[in-house]
Amino acid sequence: MKIMVEENKPVTTETSEKSVVVEMKNLKKSFGEKKVLVDISLKIYKGENLVILGKSGTGKSVLIKCIVGLLEWDEGDLILFGQNVSNLKRNELSEIRKK
Ligand SMILES: Nc1ncnc2c1ncn2[C@@H]1O[C@H](COP(=O)(O)OP(=O)(O)OP(=O)(O)O)[C@@H](O)[C@H]1O
Ligand SMILES: [Mg+2]
Repeated sequence: MKIMVEENKPVTTETSEKSVVVEMKNLKKSFGEKKVLVDISLKIYKGENLVILGKSGTGKSVLIKCIVGLLEWDEGDLILFGQNVSNLKRNELSEIRKK
């Protein structure tokens, strides 16, 4: 699986820093013995387009399901809009998902 980021327009100005919308740190997800995500780390900045490429069954959907909260991961951190959601409860998560 390859993760490619293409910035479609500059989001940095001299006075502001690019804001990170999604950050993943060493995310791991297995189903039984099958390791699907192994230490996935990435940052998605506001204004960027992210493309995830890979053969069927390499974990693209699992990765996205973790980001949107449809799957729980085993280890690692997911930070959305600057907030670490790894240990959030369901109702707290639903507020962030509205964004
Ligand atoms: N709920 C689940 N339970 C067990 N295994 C799962 C589950 N979801 C996904 N997998 C396994 O995880 C691996 C990655 O699946 P995933 O659906 O993320 O692949 P994908 O890259 O999205 O493939 P495709 O291009 O066909 O959509 C596969 O081996 C799949 O069988
Ligand atoms: Mg898929």
